[in-house]
Amino acid sequence: MSSDPDASDAQLFADLPEPLVLSPSELIKTYHPNVLAPLVRCSKLPFRHLTSLYETHITHTPMILAEEFSRAQVARISDFSTSTEERGVFWMEPKVGRSTAIPTATNHTSHPEGDRTQAQAGPSRYYQSPSHTRLPPTPTAPTKHSQLIRGCLIAQFASPNPTSLADAAELISPYVDGLDLNCGCPQRWAYNEGIGCALLRKPELVRDMVRCVKDRMGWDWPVSIKIRVDPDLKLTDQLVRTALQANISHLTIHGRTRHQPSTDPVSLEGIKFAVECAKGEVPCVANGDLWELEDARRMREVTGVEGVMAARGLLANPALFAGYKVTPSHCISQFINLSLDYGLIFPLFHRHLAYMLESHLVRSEKVWFNSMTSTVGAVDWIASRGVDIKKERRTIWDARRGRNVVDQYQWKI
Ligand SMILES: Cc1cc2nc3c(=O)[nH]c(=O)nc-3n(C[C@H](O)[C@H](O)[C@H](O)COP(=O)(O)O)c2cc1C
Repeated sequence: MSSDPDASDAQLFADLPEPLVLSPSELIKTYHPNVLAPLVRCSKLPFRHLTSLYETHITHTPMILAEEFSRAQVARISDFSTSTEERGVFWMEPKVGRSTAIPTATNHTSHPEGDRTQAQAGPSRYYQSPSHTRLPPTPTAPTKHSQLIRGCLIAQFASPNPTSLADAAELISPYVDGLDLNCGCPQRWAYNEGIGCALLRKPELVRDMVRCVKDRMGWDWPVSIKIRVDPDLKLTDQLVRTALQANISHLTIHGRTRHQPSTDPVSLEGIKFAVECAKGEVPCVANGDLWELEDARRMREVTGVEGVMAARGLLANPALFAGYKVTPSHCISQFINLSLDYGLIFPLFHRHLAYMLESHLVRSEKVWFNSMTSTVGAVDWIASRGVDIKKERRTIWDARRGRNVVDQYQWKI
């Protein structure tokens, strides 16, 4: 590895293996991935990229209305943007018993096509990120079992209509690794439109929509569903079994019912029940009340899921999955730089910072911060609190040594 501080990423990591590009379900089956939930208005490009720097292996777009997206260019422009850099690159250890022919940290020297798994070699429309420009941002050094894996991006859509969903899938497919169908949005307007939670009790429609996408995109093209548990668990069973008939690639379960607010504790029993309904035919991801790494470990242990998804926990602390208890200063700095680079409208920029700063500020500071009206003002105020937001070419993690090289920031807030 070059010790030249001006070396490019390509020079610094020339001896790293090419990261493997897997489908979301392969990633979930083979490893223990951490997932950023779909978040209306919030899981946009700068925030997705940010979480990918901190051990979030799979990210979702916000829920997009399939019909508008497939019909209008203006909707496509406002609802979706991506970059070649947004998915992370990670050192990951396969689960015990999931032996693969995938090259590991120690035995890989080249990138022979023959080493690739079928999923990776599969649909050529998988977006190929130029991996040499990204670092493997893991806080721990790889072991001899670690494999370098590129993260996944999933587009979430809401639709009551199979054809619109297939149209949207076709349009977005060059840029994402799969599609997720929202079956959990509890808002009244959505229910009245026949989308989100309205689908929880329409298993045949869910099956038809998934099939329609697969008929268009190919039977193996990744389509998942994100559900809430039903107060009548028999209906959850029926929904999951019917979706399996349509060959969903994985299942995400939010352990609250349609009528439960997010202040209610999540039901691990409900999630476990849905996982059992899937009978091991597809990998499962559990969602609800993950606020720190220990919650994720417990979620996996109790429910038997392979993947864990956080929403509000990541909004409050985008470095949650990297083991931080509260948002570290370098995460704030990264967010500011990503938002300025990509462009993020002030209300969203401000809202994200308010979530991240919540546990750092006293009441009077929150009132002050919340009254700000410009990006420049917010950035200046944060800089005055000791966060180094200078944009330098700087590694976040030195993955080879497992050393965090930017924790020297003085965080005065
Ligand atoms: C601001 C916000 C926006 C959300 N938008 C979506 C969405 O677009 N699609 C979706 O399936 N769920 C959405 N949800 C629900 C979350 O994905 C997640 O299921 C829920 O918040 C429970 O997870 P948590 O306990 O980790 O917050 C949203 C939640 C929040 C707080």
